[in-house]
Amino acid sequence: MPWKVPYSGISNRLGLEEAEALVHVLGQDILMKGPTAQQFEREFAERIGVKHALAMTSCTTALFLAAQILKLQAGDEVITTPQTFWVTTWPMLARKCKIRFADIEPNTLNIDPNTIEPLITEKTKAICVVHFGGQAVEMDAVMALAQKYNLRVIEDCAHTPGACYKNRHVGTFGDVGCFSFQSLKNMTTGEGGMLVTNDDKLYEYAARLGTLHMHGEMMERTDKRIGPYREPEYYRDWHAQNAFNLDYVDGQFEVGNNFRMSDLQAAVGRVQLRKLDQNNDRRRAIAHRLNEGLRAIPGITVQAERPYAPHIYHLYSFFYDPQVVGASKDEFIRHLEQVEGIQIVVRFFPVHLLAEFRALGHQYGECPVAERLYFENQMQLPIYSHLTDEQIDHMIQGVRRAVEKLSA
Ligand SMILES: Cc1ncc(COP(=O)(O)O)c(C=O)c1O
Repeated sequence: MPWKVPYSGISNRLGLEEAEALVHVLGQDILMKGPTAQQFEREFAERIGVKHALAMTSCTTALFLAAQILKLQAGDEVITTPQTFWVTTWPMLARKCKIRFADIEPNTLNIDPNTIEPLITEKTKAICVVHFGGQAVEMDAVMALAQKYNLRVIEDCAHTPGACYKNRHVGTFGDVGCFSFQSLKNMTTGEGGMLVTNDDKLYEYAARLGTLHMHGEMMERTDKRIGPYREPEYYRDWHAQNAFNLDYVDGQFEVGNNFRMSDLQAAVGRVQLRKLDQNNDRRRAIAHRLNEGLRAIPGITVQAERPYAPHIYHLYSFFYDPQVVGASKDEFIRHLEQVEGIQIVVRFFPVHLLAEFRALGHQYGECPVAERLYFENQMQLPIYSHLTDEQIDHMIQGVRRAVEKLSA
């Protein structure tokens, strides 16, 4: 049966404004990162109230760069949440850090700060939080721990452009914040991301390493020749000029990469940024309508929304109680999909139970709340700005009918 409410591959449909912005950029003399991406960076930084923003190819590359500029290395321990898209942990794995999984709060699905402190050891270097699904983590508690134990903080803000915690935008609390503009996200450039920081040094470091340069401590060379040759006048390339004039102290340097967003993506991003509040308001309105309808159904609980952390509903999560209904989560989802035509997703498989992490010794029982919620209770309904009122009502009635049928 065709879906009555499919899971859309795009968060909001792009229109004429994005098309016009693209056409305008196509006339530029540069299509790689140039004036449009720089303008996008300034506007994004201003919008969220941060000093520096770096437009990147994705949130994944922003997270990789964050781990690099924070100098996370083999043997360092990083504490994070099991309730995330696994890529949050990839940069730490790639740098051979040891990952320790805290547990989550049952009603927000965010990392539970109370479960972080017991995991802190002498080797702990950083906490990586994920503002899950569109609602900010309890940042006061996380930052208090970071200060107490002198830890770095990375904020994975893939789900939260436009979300605040106590009137301050997420991504501006920790050392580095990483955003995603992939197609499903609340604002999109197709693929894309943004690294943000208030730290001048980290920004300088990220800007260098994110754009193919190397980074390390340098000193002036005394003899500025290479073999018999002096620096030729035609070398206008900064990198080649360095070769004549500077040496790395101890020969140590970090290798850069090309993580630059193109001006084409940035043109779309600038328009999407202008529409962000409107699109987030639309998602909030849809979610509140779903909440109203669903909370009256026995066996269904909706997500908690803290008044000081307004939810922007990148995901619409809700909770099903198999004990109350008398049927498993699998049976419930099967009914919603096969009888009601509502496409359900379950985000995300607990990261510590992935084969990669089990191979490293992680096991079932490590994060009881995340495990129980994933296997028994939590799931997501489709949410995107082009849902119709009929589709929203169909989801509410579909859930009601599924519960009635399964509990009969
Ligand atoms: C929590 C989280 N972090 C990071 C990412 C990676 O984002 P990107 O696709 O921009 O690399 C995602 C993508 O869905 C995500 O959900």
